[in-house]
Amino acid sequence: MTQQTLNLASLRAQFPALQETDAQGRPFVFFDGPGWTQAPQSVIDAMANYLIRANANKGGHFITSHRNDEVINQAHAAMADFLNAPSAKEIVFGANMTTLTYSLSRSIGRTIQPGDEIVVSRLDHDANIAPWVALEEQGATVKWVDFDVEDCRLDMERLASLITSKTKLVAVGYASNAVGTINPIARIAALAHNVGAWLWVDAVHYAPHGPIDVQALDCDFLVCSAYKFFGPHVGAVWGKFKLLERLHAYQVRPAPSNVPYKFETGTLNQEGLAGATAAINYLAALGRQYGSHLADDFSNYQGRRKELKQAMQAIVDYERPLFAYMLEQIQTIPGIQVYGIANPAEFEERCPTLAFTREGFTPAQIAAYLGEQNIFVWHGNYYALAVTERLGVEESGGMVRVGLAHYNTKEEVDRLLTSLKEM
Ligand SMILES: Cc1ncc(COP(=O)(O)O)c(C=O)c1O
Repeated sequence: MTQQTLNLASLRAQFPALQETDAQGRPFVFFDGPGWTQAPQSVIDAMANYLIRANANKGGHFITSHRNDEVINQAHAAMADFLNAPSAKEIVFGANMTTLTYSLSRSIGRTIQPGDEIVVSRLDHDANIAPWVALEEQGATVKWVDFDVEDCRLDMERLASLITSKTKLVAVGYASNAVGTINPIARIAALAHNVGAWLWVDAVHYAPHGPIDVQALDCDFLVCSAYKFFGPHVGAVWGKFKLLERLHAYQVRPAPSNVPYKFETGTLNQEGLAGATAAINYLAALGRQYGSHLADDFSNYQGRRKELKQAMQAIVDYERPLFAYMLEQIQTIPGIQVYGIANPAEFEERCPTLAFTREGFTPAQIAAYLGEQNIFVWHGNYYALAVTERLGVEESGGMVRVGLAHYNTKEEVDRLLTSLKEM
């Protein structure tokens, strides 16, 4: 392991859930981050404060409503900073990634003509597949791009050949929530734009693991969920303003017709927005504290945007060696098969999310055994059904998934390794 870039004791102290124990006083190990991350106290406080001080609907002529409007504006601004969006008006909040993708795909579907093509990937969570496949009802043809089962990389050659003048939209994940692969989004954007197609990016899994810059990626839409990066259950889509303006929104008649509000159907989870802002501010503070040595790498960003880029790079620099250690060690345990990129020299192309199977045990048995030791991991397909089907593990119960977050420690990884050895 290389130098520790984060002060874990100080960071972990900010997360009340990380202090939890069972009745015997045994601490919990949260390796379930790809499913759900824990929240720092500042997020919890922001949500409680909202409910005390700003709990009102928008647009009223009284103080709690004004405060609420401020919370909404701050959340749009914070998310725009997180993604380096050109404008806070390009951020649409909603219940979660799945709901937002269904909602926007319905709007995008209105622009689809019979014979138009949509490209989806087998490496994706079903939330970035099913909403697009549903557009077949509109006459769209869905083309699937495969991945290489050896290293779980997207077949870029095939993708390039599938994107043609008929393609209207390409939907890919920034990173796989099953096997961790990070896709070359900027390259895919260039392929899509070459033929005038739009690129929809699911950044839900990637968001807690690396800096996102929608302008540098030049995608058209990017969606993420705050509960995967230390916030509450709120989803957000960024879209290019002119596209959001052009798309029809399904809304009730008295609702605002301007972007982004026309897509924010019904009353938002406003305490969740307060929490999302706090999660982004938590990361910005982490960037100030642990990422200032990276300032030159991000000289084209200012203020909170810069702090966030520093934070996410500091997180990469912490998580990557910890993951390398875990992967190297886990492979020494007999009967374990890991999936995805395993060469440390290529770890830039993956998140610290490890999927594995073990001879003689089902993934559910392994997860249950670890659960008894207070080590929380997921098993099954985690809705990345196309991945487990393609890898041929769906029928045998999928894979065990161990997801590192920046609050995990080497001691926790060692506890996992010991438990797996003792199993
Ligand atoms: C990669 C990926 N995409 C989409 C989703 C769905 O996100 P949400 O729960 O916000 O709908 C998840 C959730 O696990 C995910 O990991």
